[in-house]
Amino acid sequence: MNLDTESTARTLLADGKGILAADETPGTLTKRFDALGIPSTEQSRRTYREMLFTAPDAATFISGVIMQDETIRQKSSTGTPLAQLLASRGIVPGIKVDTGAKPLALAPGETVTEGLDGLRDRLAEYRGMGAGFAKWRAVIHIADGRPSGPCVIVNAHALARYAALCQEASLVPIVEPEVLMDGSHSIERCEEVTGMVLHAVFQALSEQRVALESMLLKPNMIVPGTASSRPASVEEVATATLGCLRRNVPAAVPGIVFLSGGQSDRLATAHLNAINRLPGPKPWKITFSYGRALQDAALEAWHGRDDNVKAAQEALSHRARCNGASSLGRYTDEMEATSSIRYPTP
Ligand code: 13P
Repeated sequence: MNLDTESTARTLLADGKGILAADETPGTLTKRFDALGIPSTEQSRRTYREMLFTAPDAATFISGVIMQDETIRQKSSTGTPLAQLLASRGIVPGIKVDTGAKPLALAPGETVTEGLDGLRDRLAEYRGMGAGFAKWRAVIHIADGRPSGPCVIVNAHALARYAALCQEASLVPIVEPEVLMDGSHSIERCEEVTGMVLHAVFQALSEQRVALESMLLKPNMIVPGTASSRPASVEEVATATLGCLRRNVPAAVPGIVFLSGGQSDRLATAHLNAINRLPGPKPWKITFSYGRALQDAALEAWHGRDDNVKAAQEALSHRARCNGASSLGRYTDEMEATSSIRYPTP
């Protein structure tokens, strides 16, 4: 057992806190900036990340931040490496280490996540820069005949190889098998596929001797496809999600940190809250590791302008506070109503 990684996992799962995923590649962040007319340069991306990382309330509700290669090498406006800035606020710096989902050979429309070549050396370098944990995202599409068996197996195998290398390097691996929301599938189909994928992932982790006590799982919630004709209520999503996790995630895993996956920010908060309020056994901590659901309102408020920094930081802190409450099952509509920030209704 590695005491270092177990204690990092505990820190990440502190009561009432969750993780901020700020690990968009420069290409993805450029698309988000373009949509708002914000110029995307190495400097503007750094300014944006520094704005997020220094939000006054951030450390109260955010235990860790996932960065990307460009960001972990950047320094704040006052010359402090961003990883060090986070650590000085009591936030564990993390790093996304996969190199993206690439087309899977002989499997039209499916992908396999790459990044294993040279990973041992990269992990050692990131550890030296202060990272305490890492992330790798596998992407699973639902469609007719998809996912295929081979797609699930190769992605699970790669997740386990990555997780084993992380633990060797004393980094906590966040294992993220994301079943996408895109498509017209039902909530039942999402549950079936997610269950199958989780089963394959935990089999691969066990075969490759990954210590479940020193990893976090980052799954999707069980929701209908975005083009499904039958929407699901918050209660239905919560019940299906917790049931699927109970059937497929061993109790030795200390924490489940959900991705938001394109849900609106308020809905992602409401779902997390409903899951935590359900009765019955929950052997893991259940919290958030949101990207868009934490950042969208802040990015919109910031719009690339220095004079908007305070409003943007308030927007991030507000979402983090609401999600922190949801991680304890204590989120209420009044928390949104008392905010000075206005959101479109979900
Ligand atoms: P979203 O919450 O925007 O899905 O991002 C989380 C993440 O880290 C995806 O890999």
